[in-house]
Amino acid sequence: MADSTISDTVFPTTPIVQLERCVLRPYHISDLEPMCKAANDPLIVKYMRDAFPYPYDTDAGMTWLKICKAEGLPVEEKADEAKPAAPDSSPPAPSPEMNVAICLLDGTFIGSTGLRAMGPDGTDRYTREIGYWIGRDHWGKGLATEVASGLGRWALSPASGILTKDGQPLRRIEAGVYAENAASSKVLERAGYVREGVRRQAVIKNGVMQDVVIYGLVASDLEK
Ligand SMILES: CC(C)(COP(=O)(O)OP(=O)(O)OC[C@H]1O[C@@H](n2cnc3c(N)ncnc32)[C@H](O)[C@@H]1OP(=O)(O)O)[C@@H](O)C(=O)NCCC(=O)NCCS
Repeated sequence: MADSTISDTVFPTTPIVQLERCVLRPYHISDLEPMCKAANDPLIVKYMRDAFPYPYDTDAGMTWLKICKAEGLPVEEKADEAKPAAPDSSPPAPSPEMNVAICLLDGTFIGSTGLRAMGPDGTDRYTREIGYWIGRDHWGKGLATEVASGLGRWALSPASGILTKDGQPLRRIEAGVYAENAASSKVLERAGYVREGVRRQAVIKNGVMQDVVIYGLVASDLEK
């Protein structure tokens, strides 16, 4: 059987996407305060998965920055400093996740986006799920549309450097939107994603069963 585990998918170490009005860059410790301030908003939490904490306090923000291996994090004390670690020349383990900060061109932090591996066994390895949120101060300016369009197109292009272990670029970017999230549906439709169907009663959010609308952008969409 072919080796097809999703953990074999290679991401570039420092993905940066330059868009017209914003840039997607790796997290930095200095994002902590503006990120927590913007994310601690019930109108954002409402449309995110339950893994997105509320209240979004400093601890929650630090946890996220550690998961994302943000630049500038304080070096944590090693439990066993007496024993020097053996030198390790192997490259860092590739990650099937990519999480980046969304900033205006002047550096202002405005939100987060990312790509997430799907499926447990590698069968979905040519697909990534896109996620995003934008701080409320910046809503309604077309920025999420720019991000969904730009990140999706970048991820599907060989220029991104994102390759599966088969040496191929990704083929599909997918998004699942709670049916009542009209703003996000509009974002994806304007960004060129195709509404493909509805997973009826697929999730429970805040105690309410919700349909999830599935959107997809596939490489051949970009040739049209
Ligand atoms: C969804 C979200 C990312 C949109 O960000 P944004 O930068 O304001 O998006 P854009 O400006 O590119 O486009 C939003 C569009 O939806 C429209 N919109 C906003 N609220 C709406 C509503 N309740 N019903 C219909 N359309 C709505 C806006 O008017 C805008 O369209 P327009 O430019 O034609 O006026 C932002 O609202 C957000 O972070 N929401 C919470 C988290 C979230 O939902 N993430 C996505 C999970 S799938």
